[in-house]
Amino acid sequence: VKANALIEIVSYEDLDEFFNSKYAQGKYLFIGDGSNLLFVTDYNGTIVKMQTKGIEGKLQSDGTVLVKANAGENWDDFVCACLDNGWNGLENLAKIPGKVGSSPVQNIGAYGREVKDFIANVFVYEIATKKYMKLSANQCKFAYRDSIFKQEWKGKYVITAVEFLLSTSQKVNIQYEDVKQRVEHLENVVPKDIYNIVSEIRKEKLPDTTIMGNAGSFFKNPIVTKEKYEQLCQNYDFKSYPINEEFCKLSAAQLITKCGWKGKRCGEVGVHQNQALVLVNYGNATGYDVLNLAKKIQKDVWEQLNVQIEMEINVIQ
Ligand code: EPU
Repeated sequence: VKANALIEIVSYEDLDEFFNSKYAQGKYLFIGDGSNLLFVTDYNGTIVKMQTKGIEGKLQSDGTVLVKANAGENWDDFVCACLDNGWNGLENLAKIPGKVGSSPVQNIGAYGREVKDFIANVFVYEIATKKYMKLSANQCKFAYRDSIFKQEWKGKYVITAVEFLLSTSQKVNIQYEDVKQRVEHLENVVPKDIYNIVSEIRKEKLPDTTIMGNAGSFFKNPIVTKEKYEQLCQNYDFKSYPINEEFCKLSAAQLITKCGWKGKRCGEVGVHQNQALVLVNYGNATGYDVLNLAKKIQKDVWEQLNVQIEMEINVIQ
């Protein structure tokens, strides 16, 4: 798809200039890499891409490090830079597409960690007042694949930088089953091993976006009451992950697989053969084709299993 204009922001001065320009009077959309967006048609406005770079770490007296990175840093390069400096913690979030500035918006998460576990502050530009502000992690209302930036603050702030609280200790998180299985034979597992293992698992399960168009997980894992879960299990043994006393999380991939969609191709779009949460473009699909397939899957999961699965990606109409 095409936009009317593309503007790249490489400095804070650029950002000020943008908001004083004619482009800010019309329709615009700030993006990182756009890896979680689905454009269904041409964008009748300006796309503004954050390209501000810079990473700075401050060692604290208790062995933790406060690391501030500008929004335009590539997420995976940032994770690697941290590990190279001995600033640990983000290794489970290896190889996630996108930028540092987008990471808080959907609270990216994988292999036992969510980015909220490490975020200390989020630096923003408030569009209404043209002021720069610092928000605490608490103010961001992080939840599973969610934050205030997707809800009541949507479109009101530009994320300019994120500050993370990382550790210099070598302690690793191996709770996620897939990760645990692959470290069992290793002695002295260090954060870089986790980075490599997670990269390996992702490579096996997820299609490479540079080869086959996709937006990662297209749907969120649904959160349902335990009562609903028990009803569902009367006919089939579904997996669930506890949230609290009342709610649990289901595997959307498992539900989609159960409904027969895994690996299915419909013309130029399809459901990936190794991960049913991922929709792929075989080359010539339009945004509408992808959206139509997603809607068909949602409808079918609802009709067969009585569970609503919500889209995780951002549809831009
Ligand atoms: N499963 C299936 N069918 C499939 C794939 C998975 O039944 O096609 C079942 C398996 O039983 C598996 C379980 O689902 O044990 C969990 O699978 P996986 O580890 O792939 O996790 P997921 O819940 O499907 C979530 C994230 C991914 C993240 C992985 C790993 C969401 C929406 N997705 O997927 O995030 O990489 O966990 O932690 O929460 C992304 O957001 O783009 C993304 C890839």
